Amino acid sequence: MKCIRIERYGGPEVLQHADLPAPVATPGMVLVRVRHAGINFMDIHTRQGKYEKSRTYPVRLPCTLGMEGAGEVVAVGAGVNTHAAGDRVAWCIVWGSYAEYALVPAWQAVKVPDAIPLDLAAVSVFQGYTAHYLAHDVGQLGPGKTCLVHAASGGIGQILIQLAKRSGARVFATTSSADKASVARERGADAVFFYDSGKFADAVREVTGGQGVDVVYDSIGRTSLRDSFRAARTRGLIVNYGNVSGSVTDLDPLELGEAGSLFLTRPRLADHLRDAAEIRRRATDIFSALLDGTLTIDIAGRYTLENVADAHAAYEERRIVGKPVLDIDK
Ligand SMILES: NC(=O)c1ccc[n+]([C@@H]2O[C@H](COP(=O)([O-])OP(=O)(O)OC[C@H]3O[C@@H](n4cnc5c(N)ncnc54)[C@H](OP(=O)(O)O)[C@@H]3O)[C@@H](O)[C@H]2O)c1
Repeated sequence: MKCIRIERYGGPEVLQHADLPAPVATPGMVLVRVRHAGINFMDIHTRQGKYEKSRTYPVRLPCTLGMEGAGEVVAVGAGVNTHAAGDRVAWCIVWGSYAEYALVPAWQAVKVPDAIPLDLAAVSVFQGYTAHYLAHDVGQLGPGKTCLVHAASGGIGQILIQLAKRSGARVFATTSSADKASVARERGADAVFFYDSGKFADAVREVTGGQGVDVVYDSIGRTSLRDSFRAARTRGLIVNYGNVSGSVTDLDPLELGEAGSLFLTRPRLADHLRDAAEIRRRATDIFSALLDGTLTIDIAGRYTLENVADAHAAYEERRIVGKPVLDIDK
């Protein structure tokens, strides 16, 4: 089978085109003919070696890249009675998805409703589940709550705005260009600010009557986190769920006290997808919202196994707006 492998960490040049035997369905697993894979910033982090020592995400070299996808089950392993050949499924946090076949633990493979095309499913689960747990479990958003979403035109940003608005919260957003700001507004953001070297924090304080927001969602990390503290209300919650600009490695807990007795959390999706029931609950909500039109996820660019490096470059150059898909059969 054709796939994209890495044998060492580095830039896009470490992506290798390989032709390997397809895996066989081992106990507890389903073998899937992959039709589409989601392309995520997490693939770039994987390629760069950021999970080299991670216990949450024990992906090790050599590795077939890609950890989100959708396709049809072609075989099930011993002990699997929840799936059968022909089922349309989607999954995430299962490495090996930039490939014609992938081995997926049955408990992580959710069935995709017939009315949802597989390419849409492939770009919806990872960021959909993430935005879902960030909005509902971590931020506990609802009427009367306020939040700030950074990188608002990004894959997670766009979904988070929509789920936050659906919950009844007031949503502010940041981004880096006028075009990206219109996307955030289209998704429902009440006001959008540019980062402006941290001045977004002053703008957020101003629109909240000097209070700051209840929850700040910060996926950027090093270049924004301290200004995110300034955008939060006293005893507010800072959710640092990504570090696309690098991690903050010099934080003294006292800073949280000085910023207004803030709560800081660094959550991970894997801890919010602990079993099949939790995955199904989030998938059902995301798929239903896609079907009833309360959630829109646009495919932002189509790539193939031949040119997936271009998608990685686009992410690193901040040119991705939304979520790109990898068409495996093209
Ligand atoms: N903790 C979790 O559970 C979890 C789960 C899924 C993903 N994540 C993380 O969430 C982050 C966002 O993922 P995503 O796939 O949705 O990506 P994304 O937001 O679609 O893309 C990254 C965006 O970040 C902004 N950005 C700001 N500074 C940047 C920089 N120095 N380099 C590149 N981009 C920069 C850019 O938007 P602007 O131009 O608008 O600034 C860019 O479009 C990643 O770090 C990912 O690993 C975490």
